[in-house]
Amino acid sequence: MNHHQKEVIKAAITAVGAYVPDTVLTNQELENMVDTSDSWITSRTGIKERRILKEPGKATSFLAIQAAQNLIQKKQLDPLTIDLVMVATITPDVPVAATAAYVASQIGASNAFAYDLQAACSGFLYGMSTAAAYISSGRYNKVLLIGADMMSSIVDYTDRTTCIIFGDGAGAALFEPNTEGYGWEDEYFRSNGTDRDALRIKAGGSLHPTTQQTLDAGDHFIRQDGQTVYKYAVTEMAHVTETMLQRNSLTASDVSYLVPHQANKRIVDATAKRLEIHDDKVLMNIAYYGNTTAATLPLLLNDFENNFKKGDKLIFAAFGGGFTWGAAYLTWAY
Ligand code: UT7
Repeated sequence: MNHHQKEVIKAAITAVGAYVPDTVLTNQELENMVDTSDSWITSRTGIKERRILKEPGKATSFLAIQAAQNLIQKKQLDPLTIDLVMVATITPDVPVAATAAYVASQIGASNAFAYDLQAACSGFLYGMSTAAAYISSGRYNKVLLIGADMMSSIVDYTDRTTCIIFGDGAGAALFEPNTEGYGWEDEYFRSNGTDRDALRIKAGGSLHPTTQQTLDAGDHFIRQDGQTVYKYAVTEMAHVTETMLQRNSLTASDVSYLVPHQANKRIVDATAKRLEIHDDKVLMNIAYYGNTTAATLPLLLNDFENNFKKGDKLIFAAFGGGFTWGAAYLTWAY
């Protein structure tokens, strides 16, 4: 390296961890709860089962803490060295008092500051960008990003259009500076709020504060217009991912793995087909967890960690409520 050239600090993922609750909710069990069938759910979504956090008194922070502790233990990380803890979630423990602050305290990250980040199913993707920006700026050295959602707390288990999709879980990734040239390479993020009603919780915010009426109407549950979201997701995920490859001069064969948000197997298949990325390179675990919102990407990283090699080129893609969506390119550092 030229001595006058400033050293480039890239933000790399240096450890991952995850947690899902023990209780399994199968398609067969859902057949007894709503008018649905295992074959419909399997063929329309690719989901066979999802995990549900059942223990009273436990919430999203519990999932996040377990995922963080899994990472800390695997990495043999001293939590006092963590500078920042971010939790991407749409199901915070409480509406006010950041879940991340509680999580940081519980894992012993007493020197860290902490806050939550909300971008629905794109939460972890956007959070990776935030983590990477903090690291490459040189301002912080260890950023712990957690994606955690207890979707069972906002799902109406009498609504067959949503209850079959979602599950609970959490995953975590540690971001650190890397001077070998590996880490966050590029991102292309988008959002469009004009269709925000297509996927949302209507009440409980400043627009429709909680009243007896909102409670009676079931307006505190998550609702979606599945077809609108589906069409948008298929088109836009392909568009941003294609852009990501093109502007980094990557062909499908250069990509080591596509790491897509797990909302519906058909959306992922459509994206992979458009990019002509072979199935072997498309990471999937939706069959076991369903859609865990902010947790899908780190759950994939944790499940497939042993497949990754230093220098592997990972392309992330997500689409979620808001709408929020995007794609990112990262090279694996270990
Ligand atoms: O992660 C955040 C982003 N979220 C997403 O990306 C979700 C995107 N949307 C989807 O994944 C799909 O739209 C769903 C899985 C939600 C629904 O699949 P679909 O293929 O779009 O089904 P549909 O809504 O077009 O419904 C087809 C039929 C309807 O019956 P008719 O009108 O054709 O008689 C529905 O009433 O399937 C019916 N249906 C069901 N049948 C059995 C809807 N839900 C169910 C169900 N079991 N659970």
